[in-house]
Amino acid sequence: MAGRVSVALASGDGIGPEIVEATLELFRIAGVLEHIEFRPVDMGAAVFAKGNTRGMTDEAIRTVEDCGILFKGPMETPKGGGGKSINVTARKLWNAYANLRVFKTLPGVETVYSRAGLSIDMCIVRENIEDTYGGVEHRLSNDVIQCKRLISAPGCDEVHRFAFQTARKMGLKAIHCGHKANIMKMTDGLFLDRFRATAKDFPELTAGDVIVDALCMNLVVKPQQYQMVVLPNLQGDIVSDLCAGLVGGLGFAPSANIGNHISIFEAVHGTAPDIAGKGIANPTSIILSGLMMLRHLCFGQHAANIENALLATLESGVHTGDFGDKKTPAVGTRDFVRAVADRLGDKPRTVAPVPVPDPAATSFVRPPRPAGQQVIRTFKNLVSHVVGCDIYLDTPLSPISLAEEMNRAAVDSPFRLTLISNRGTQVWPTGSVYTECVDYYRVRFELKEGTPPGAFGQSRAIALLDRIAESFTVCSYELLRTFDGTKGFSLAQGQ
Ligand code: NAI
Repeated sequence: MAGRVSVALASGDGIGPEIVEATLELFRIAGVLEHIEFRPVDMGAAVFAKGNTRGMTDEAIRTVEDCGILFKGPMETPKGGGGKSINVTARKLWNAYANLRVFKTLPGVETVYSRAGLSIDMCIVRENIEDTYGGVEHRLSNDVIQCKRLISAPGCDEVHRFAFQTARKMGLKAIHCGHKANIMKMTDGLFLDRFRATAKDFPELTAGDVIVDALCMNLVVKPQQYQMVVLPNLQGDIVSDLCAGLVGGLGFAPSANIGNHISIFEAVHGTAPDIAGKGIANPTSIILSGLMMLRHLCFGQHAANIENALLATLESGVHTGDFGDKKTPAVGTRDFVRAVADRLGDKPRTVAPVPVPDPAATSFVRPPRPAGQQVIRTFKNLVSHVVGCDIYLDTPLSPISLAEEMNRAAVDSPFRLTLISNRGTQVWPTGSVYTECVDYYRVRFELKEGTPPGAFGQSRAIALLDRIAESFTVCSYELLRTFDGTKGFSLAQGQ
């Protein structure tokens, strides 16, 4: 049908096909399919099973890229064998950098908060690409494995801008940045700095910050105090599941993964293998995710009508087995959706109905395909100098003996040994006998006193590494740099 918007559709694994099929049936009855053409794609367990390690066919990739929108059911992550999560791959491959999750108290979904008369209505925006989800991991020694936590300034800028723009569009008054910048001063420090920098362009919004552990406690004690919280990837992942718990569980939280070109809409929960194929799964999360998609595609009127019908259904006590009044029989997925379809045109009575907007004057415009991979940058033209290096060694030597060896190795170089640490704690020149050490020492060299930054380039630091590598097992290596005169590296604990 001409003029319809194309959406790639992946049914997913486990309960995925059941809840996706039921949602499409609801969309059909609500008239959505007159405006949207769903194009099925092969992604997930069946594709992995054929030996495709990405879990998606080339044809599926082309279709998603053509459409710019993917509506997906949950997909299982292969256990073991190094297979990566297809859900994470999809978000990263297509740069869907902001994960927006909405948590609202729903009628008929009883929680400790609803019983106490507390209504929850908040959003989490989780950075979706970086952090430990880069999946950059290495075994460095017999006993030590590293996961690199990468946070970039442009990555922060993209997610913060999205969060502030969304808060503005939603008419919110306040936005918070959740972080752990008191401990990870550089990575989370950057995330917080870029939040504050973005806040300057949105003066109507009160922008605050909160340390993530305090945030978790505050959310449990007084969840109404937050309207939107933006967090780095891993912290955002954990906090969003906590918020799902506040409104009744994973079955009620929708999720949108938004990028500049491609966006992915999916339920927050997984494939629920324990109930797959039984026809009893709760489709609320995927329906709500579908409504986020409809709004993204400028079909706000359809979204509001379906949401009001869903609220009226929940309010009436119709429920699947995972929630609701256990004294009334649970219905299956299809009957639940039929109950929603029967209420199209109704409005909930115990909660405020969702305002139904006029049909959108504008329609969704698919952003043009980028000509090539973009290099995104925030800071340019900073003056950077190598001022030292951290060399990580696997050695049985004591800190004192290691220091003697390192001092000897550096004698003809422009660098001097300033620190030895183990698991981030200084063990030389001072330290405590109570600090337990593992087989992964850091030895830090910095420019000798009186040598100005910039006097030597990186090749002299690498020459020192080369020298040490002749007689020691090197696990890894980092150059120490200044950026416009500011140290680009952290101090050791106790330094
Ligand atoms: P899960 O969310 O699939 O299940 C946890 C519990 O919640 C189970 O008892 C399940 O029956 C129940 N549950 C989940 N969704 C439900 C629904 N709609 N209606 C009724 N009950 C529901 O989490 P689990 O077991 O940790 O993961 C299973 C698989 O899903 C794994 O392979 C995991 O990697 C994948 N997964 C995929 C996600 C995605 O596609 N975005 C997200 C989370 C997990």
